[in-house]
Amino acid sequence: MPLPKVYIGLPVQEAGLEILRGKVDFKLWEKEEAPPRNELFADLKDAEGLLAGLPIKADAELFNAAPKLKVVSNYAVGYDNIDVAEATKRGICVTNTPEVLTPATADLTFALILASARRIIEANAFLRSGGWKVWAPELLVGREVAGSVIGIIGMGQIGQAVARRAGGFDMRILYFDTVRRPEIESRLGARYVQVEELLQESDFVTLHCILNDSTRGLIGEAQLRSMKKTAILINAARGPLVDQQALYRACSEKWIWGAALDVFAKEPVPLDEPLLTLPNVTTVPHIGSASRTARNGMAVRSAENLLAVLQGNKPRDLVNKEVWK
Ligand code: GLV
Ligand code: GLV
Repeated sequence: MPLPKVYIGLPVQEAGLEILRGKVDFKLWEKEEAPPRNELFADLKDAEGLLAGLPIKADAELFNAAPKLKVVSNYAVGYDNIDVAEATKRGICVTNTPEVLTPATADLTFALILASARRIIEANAFLRSGGWKVWAPELLVGREVAGSVIGIIGMGQIGQAVARRAGGFDMRILYFDTVRRPEIESRLGARYVQVEELLQESDFVTLHCILNDSTRGLIGEAQLRSMKKTAILINAARGPLVDQQALYRACSEKWIWGAALDVFAKEPVPLDEPLLTLPNVTTVPHIGSASRTARNGMAVRSAENLLAVLQGNKPRDLVNKEVWK
């Protein structure tokens, strides 16, 4: 029997390829930039599996070009690049890579909290440009993280990992989620509140929820205006959760103290994005899961999920459970 054809749309680490070798007939797209749609579609003509990265939009048009497709295995925990409803309609399994990137993403969130609170990026630039003349009481004074209040919106695995780290910094933890999670509240010392209260009370507001139609634009002008003037907004989830124009006004007019962003409405963020001109906005290029451990884990997990479906087994991380009958 010929091996099932698979298209791997990004340069996945060897740890993942090893799992697939000899089991599927894969074509690997080795460049970092996403394959052009027409090339991708031509390669998907006979493919039963697609291992996709965030730059690949898996929508109805793509599914039309891939009539044999059984699975889209996303190399990410978020899957807003995939039209899941459309995949489900066609009986195509969608999988993601939870857990393996939880520690890395929570670590990066804390790196952003600390970097923005203590102005690390600004301080580094200041020193190297020769600005440092004297140790001075008001030089690069920032916000204290220890003992402050953190508000976590979205208490899934990543939100909980952020909460555990916050505990180590003696932070008071507030959280909001669409479902209350009493079982974790005492363990994490977290208090459930509505978003309004969370925004008003928190020194650090950090987003860890999924992007969908109900969370798009979750943080806009009204929400930013309700935050403390000393507060910092952190987003290491998805850019469209935040209205970037409102955030620019909030940070430039000092409605809030600052922001730290790993993700943007449009990625890569255009260099003329006004937020990039502000010293109180810390930015990094969507590197939340970019630890060696997490990325190898994502390679393995996405390969395993893909292979499971093609071998007729229920994949561990099935997003659209209703396709599996
Ligand atoms: C990265 O953003 C992911 O969703 O894994
Ligand atoms: C700061 O370096 C201090 O010694 O207080």
